[in-house]
Amino acid sequence: NTSLPAPVRIRLDVTDPEKVKLGTPESDSPGTRVRVLGRVHRMRAQKDVVFITLADGYGYLQCILTGDMQHAPNNRELHADFFTIIGRAAGDKEAITTRVAPDADPQTLYDNRHLALRGETSSSVMKVRSATLRAFRRAFEENRMLEVTPPAMVQTQVEGGSTLFKFDYYGENAYLTQSSQLYLETCLPSLGDVYCVCPSFRAEKSLTRRHLSEYTHIEAELDFITFTDLLDHLEAVICRVIDLTLAEPEIAGFINQLNPDFKPPSRPFRRMKYSDAIEWLRAHDIPNEEGQPHQFGDDIAEAAERKMTDIINQPIFLTHFPSEIKAFYMKKDVEDRRVTESVDVLMPGVGEIVGGSMRMDDWDELMNAYKHEGMDPSPYYWYTDQRKYGTSPHGGYGLGLERFLAWLCARYTVRDCSLYPRFTGRCTP
Ligand code: 4AD
Repeated sequence: NTSLPAPVRIRLDVTDPEKVKLGTPESDSPGTRVRVLGRVHRMRAQKDVVFITLADGYGYLQCILTGDMQHAPNNRELHADFFTIIGRAAGDKEAITTRVAPDADPQTLYDNRHLALRGETSSSVMKVRSATLRAFRRAFEENRMLEVTPPAMVQTQVEGGSTLFKFDYYGENAYLTQSSQLYLETCLPSLGDVYCVCPSFRAEKSLTRRHLSEYTHIEAELDFITFTDLLDHLEAVICRVIDLTLAEPEIAGFINQLNPDFKPPSRPFRRMKYSDAIEWLRAHDIPNEEGQPHQFGDDIAEAAERKMTDIINQPIFLTHFPSEIKAFYMKKDVEDRRVTESVDVLMPGVGEIVGGSMRMDDWDELMNAYKHEGMDPSPYYWYTDQRKYGTSPHGGYGLGLERFLAWLCARYTVRDCSLYPRFTGRCTP
């Protein structure tokens, strides 16, 4: 329509859900002629008027298509004077609403993840995910930590051989990394404190709501610290990330919709020794996996751990696990050699979201640890060398981003917090 002014291109950015905030100052005022590009998210047709909600990945905008512009009901909607269709969507049996119907079974939804992502819930979780990553990076930079990107293809294990994904690497055995920790440790002498945000891979045999085969692992390593420093740092980073994430109004809005009861945790976090947790579980009649009362030395299984965390209902630093149930590299507690300077961070609804520890910094002790675990030390020569060329007291941790998000966004499973989840039996789409 050439009689009207030229339109201003805008994105459908809804920072304030009550108000469609148009992209430019002049387009903020009612009556401005704008041009929008997007997909029909919802449509409702009445006799003389069609209501369309357009979506473009930035937000949503209600549009009204009517022959008579005089009866426009309010000025926060887009009144279309002209439109073209760029590409039609399949209808009937092939309609998106049929393929990802809210009552569809989970497998169908995973098969159609590329379409399910267009839903308001999935897309808001992905936006919170992005903001959370931004916040972690900022919190680390504030602590003068440097981001590095260790390799994903490796020839060493970190967290036990049973969950390794093995593949053929030019005729040699190699694995997809379980954790970048060993590589982060090698960076300390040259780069100071470091962190990485990389995928980790675990060939988990069982299907649970918090295990993925590939997940985003946020790992950090800190030099010249004590175990208490490590716990203080972890608490500060988690709280800073939550504050930074909630400081973005659009993201705070999503979190509020996904998890209306969310309150930032109060500090200090409860610190509980493994041995006290065993007592707590016995006192609350929560049995171990064999149905027996928990004993010192038991692995606290997922169900028991979550039950305890849900009852306590606040973040817990669970510390000082027995060395027998923890990884080979963990430093022993000088006051009680049965246990390690280790920590799991437990969150209500999810359970463990972080695993961390101080690392063995003595060469002899590390060599004995390999032997004790039946590991061949030769592929670890570069890791062991850290203890040979200027060792230091150091420690770090790994946080599973999808688990953090499951807690923050109150999702039942970590699968909903991954763009394209990988778990036992699923590598598509
Ligand atoms: O406790 P984990 O196995 O610790 C490590 O890998 C250490 N090497 C990390 C370090 O100190 N740099 O794993 C750390 C975290 C867990 O707390 C959990 O949040 C997440 O990684 N995680 C998983 N998330 C999703 N799916 C899985 N299969 C996961 N396995 C571990």
